[in-house]
Amino acid sequence: MTQERRSIARWLLGGGFAASAVSFLYPALKFMNPPAVPEASVNEVPAGKVQDLKPNSGKIVKFGSRPALLIRVGQTEFRAFSAICTHLNCTVQFQETTHQIWCACHNGFYDINGKVVSGPPPRPLEEYDVRLRGDDVVISKRA
Ligand code: FES
Repeated sequence: MTQERRSIARWLLGGGFAASAVSFLYPALKFMNPPAVPEASVNEVPAGKVQDLKPNSGKIVKFGSRPALLIRVGQTEFRAFSAICTHLNCTVQFQETTHQIWCACHNGFYDINGKVVSGPPPRPLEEYDVRLRGDDVVISKRA
């Protein structure tokens, strides 16, 4: 009889320990492996008014959850690229003095067409289309 009680007590203690372990480990494992949430797909964004950007200047705008670089090259000429450097994903910027796109992280340079000029970036920047709708500048992904 005593032997039977001991085995029941061991079984209950073991079950309690297992339940405690699961209650600690499950949230930790869920935190380390979150469920896949699909990123909202954005194909077109308004990037501001034409008059807000002077010729030979650029600005960073949000393209969904990512940055895009809008450049006003001349009076009516605009260019837009993903602002994510193809080297290690730093955000690039337009340099008015050199008329190039510069990544400050490792001194990478792209030309005004997004092609690599110098530095470590392995690929050109992803280019977006730019359209004017009246006074509004609209950036969209290329089809
Ligand atoms: S991350 Fe841009 S040059 Fe390295």
